[in-house]
Amino acid sequence: MNKKILVTGGTGYIGSHTVVELINKGYEVVIADNLSNSYISVVDAIEKITGIRPHFIKTELTDAEQTKSLFEDNKDICGVIHFAAKKAVGESVEKPLLYYYNNLFSLINILQCMQEFSINNLVFSSSCTVYGQPEVLPVKEDSPILPALSPYGNTKQISEEMIKDKASISSLKASLLRYFNPIGAHDSALIGELPLDIPNNLIPFITQTAIGKREVLKVFGNDYDTPDGTCIRDYIHVVDLAKAHIIAMERMLNDDNKHAVEVFNIGTGMGHSVLEVINTFEKASGVKLNNKFAPRRAGDIEKIWADTTYANKELGWCSEKNLHDMITSAWKWELYLKSKEE
Ligand code: UD1
Repeated sequence: MNKKILVTGGTGYIGSHTVVELINKGYEVVIADNLSNSYISVVDAIEKITGIRPHFIKTELTDAEQTKSLFEDNKDICGVIHFAAKKAVGESVEKPLLYYYNNLFSLINILQCMQEFSINNLVFSSSCTVYGQPEVLPVKEDSPILPALSPYGNTKQISEEMIKDKASISSLKASLLRYFNPIGAHDSALIGELPLDIPNNLIPFITQTAIGKREVLKVFGNDYDTPDGTCIRDYIHVVDLAKAHIIAMERMLNDDNKHAVEVFNIGTGMGHSVLEVINTFEKASGVKLNNKFAPRRAGDIEKIWADTTYANKELGWCSEKNLHDMITSAWKWELYLKSKEE
C-alpha cells in the first residue's frame, strides 16, 4: 500500500505543487484546506497532471474539533506537510490578530492531533522572514533570529519555537523549511499562483499587470541600501521548492534525520532586486510593464538571500531553475488563465 501524507493547504500555491510531486513519487495524498485563498478546481488540475485525484477534505484547522475529525478519518497517515497559513506580510501588519489566530491555532491543533494519533513526521512551511533583517548575508540556518519585521514573520518564529518545544518532550520529528521567495508555476501551466483577491506578492502582480488585469505595478521603495535602491530577494522556483518537501519527509520516514528538529534554507543562493525581476520579465515576455515607484511597504526586509550549502549537502537537494525559467513559467500560467476566460 502507498504511504499516505496529509497536506494542509494542499490546494494553495506551494501546497498544490507539492501534492503533484508526492503523487508522482507514489504517495497517497489527503488535502485539508479551507479554500480561503485557493480554488477547489485545483484538485481537478492535480488530477489532470498526475492522473490521480487526491482526497480533498474542506477543513478549518483553527477549529480543534474539525482538525480532530480530519485525523480520526485518516489514522493511517505517516506524515504531515503543513502549509495552511496566512502569508501576506503587508496584510499581517494591518491585521496582526488574524495572523496570530490563524497561523498559531492551526499549528497547535495539528501538533495536538499528531501526538494523539501517534504521527511523528512533520514538514513545516517556515520562511526566511524568521531571520528579520540579517546583518550578514547570505544567511545560514544558524544565523541569528532577529526580531521579526511583521506579525507574519513573528508567527513563523513562534511556530518554529512551538515545534522545537513539542519535539523536545515527545517523539515528534520535524523539518523546518525556511523558504525564500517561491515563484513560477508548474511546467504544464495547469497550476500556479492564484490569489483570490488582489495579489500581494510581486510576481502575480507583475503578470496580472502585464495581462491587463491591473493598471500599474507599484515598486515599493527605491531608496533602500541596495545597488538599484529596490529590495533584494532570493526567488526560487515553486517546483524546486516542492521537491525539497518530499526529500525532507523521506529523510524522517527513513530515520535519516540527524536531529529531531532540523532546519533548512530553501532558496537558490542568488539575490535579485525588484527592478531586475521586472527587467527579466520584460525580456522573457516581450511585454513592457507599466510600473512606478511607490513608498516602502510596511514590514518589508531590505535584502536577503540564502546560503544553501547545508540543504544541498544534507538533503542532497539543489535548485535547478534560474530567474528567467521561473518568470517564463509564471507568464505561461497567466496566459493559460486568460485563455480559459476567453
Ligand atoms: C515574504 C517572505 C517570503 C514568504 C512570502 C509570503 C520575506 C523576506 N520573505 O516575501 O519568505 O514566502 O512573504 O508571501 O519576508 N513588491 C513590490 N510591488 C508589489 C509587490 C511586491 O515592489 O506589488 C516588492 C516587495 O516590496 C518585495 C518584493 O517585491 O521587495 C517581494 O515581495 P513579495 O512577493 O510580496 O514577497 P516578500 O514579502 O518578500
